[in-house]
Amino acid sequence: MKEKTYAVLNGPNLNLLGVREPHIYGSQTLEDIEESCLSWSEKRGIRLLWMQSNSEGALLDFFHKHRLLLSGAVINAGAYTHSSYALRDCIAAMPFPVVELHLSNTAAREEFRHVSRIAPVVRGRIEGFGGAGYLLALEALERIL
Ligand code: DQA
Repeated sequence: MKEKTYAVLNGPNLNLLGVREPHIYGSQTLEDIEESCLSWSEKRGIRLLWMQSNSEGALLDFFHKHRLLLSGAVINAGAYTHSSYALRDCIAAMPFPVVELHLSNTAAREEFRHVSRIAPVVRGRIEGFGGAGYLLALEALERIL
């Protein structure tokens, strides 16, 4: 049987977690979160691909490259969430469910963050739970697949 593969994609500025506005995003680094996700997936015998890029094109290319390999994906698209129609179209073209994730509760923040361009094409959204949200999002994939 084919080993199940999930991906976690992180968009712009998430490489600065831990030092970036810690009152909003917490003190965990992206590496800390990656470690907890890898241990989650190892325990379940799931292969996990992890990526971060500040470039919109790199996020799209990653989806395209792994289109036929993945069973599901989690994406924290950072500010591209609010602006990227290209990412929206890309997610709509994927044959697997994608969970939208945010560390912060975007609805409780500035108005421009209230719009998510990708919300209409994702399976569901998890936000406001800090780094723990990544595990909740993976768990959500596991429940629906
Ligand atoms: C974020 C929320 C976005 O509005 C913001 O641009 C980010 C991080 C979050 O995880 O809370 O970069 O996606």
